[in-house]
Amino acid sequence: MSTPATPAVVLVGPPGSGKSTVGRVLAERLGLPFRDTDADVEQAAGKPIPEIFVDEGEPHFRQLEREAVRAAATGYAGVLALGGGAVMAEETRALLAPLPVVFLEVALGDAVKRVGLDAPRPLLAVNPRARWRELMEARRPLYLEVATAVVDTEGRTPEQVADAALEAL
Ligand code: S3P
Repeated sequence: MSTPATPAVVLVGPPGSGKSTVGRVLAERLGLPFRDTDADVEQAAGKPIPEIFVDEGEPHFRQLEREAVRAAATGYAGVLALGGGAVMAEETRALLAPLPVVFLEVALGDAVKRVGLDAPRPLLAVNPRARWRELMEARRPLYLEVATAVVDTEGRTPEQVADAALEAL
């Protein structure tokens, strides 16, 4: 039996850390495909994430997210970006343990700038700055737990972050 495919790089970090943008650059650099668990979840549910939160609630979203991570972590050989809250699941952290995982560090100001221009996030719908801070405080130890490398995104372009990630791995 052949060994199952596993991701070449996994990107974790809070909303607004640039996981998808940096992931696409990394994928191009490595000549590999790019995949994002948020997109996998939306495809599985047949609707955008904010609608999953409204119609079925966050626990259902988290279940779909765990399934998306499991499928990608055990059967996909490209670059993988995880939704910002995916590391909250113990099963996900265990699946990430043997993989090269880069934590993209970002300061609140930069994250809010990016998030404000990007897709809507249900968890940041009200009081985004305070919520982001709360989420980051709770999750930072989990990002650090799964990370094999930490890359600071402050003042760096996605290309520079991708290069730093490749160097750090
Ligand atoms: C979430 C982050 C989002 C998305 C969902 C929940 C979170 O992904 O998975 O809205 O819990 O922080 P991004 O980190 O790509 O924004």
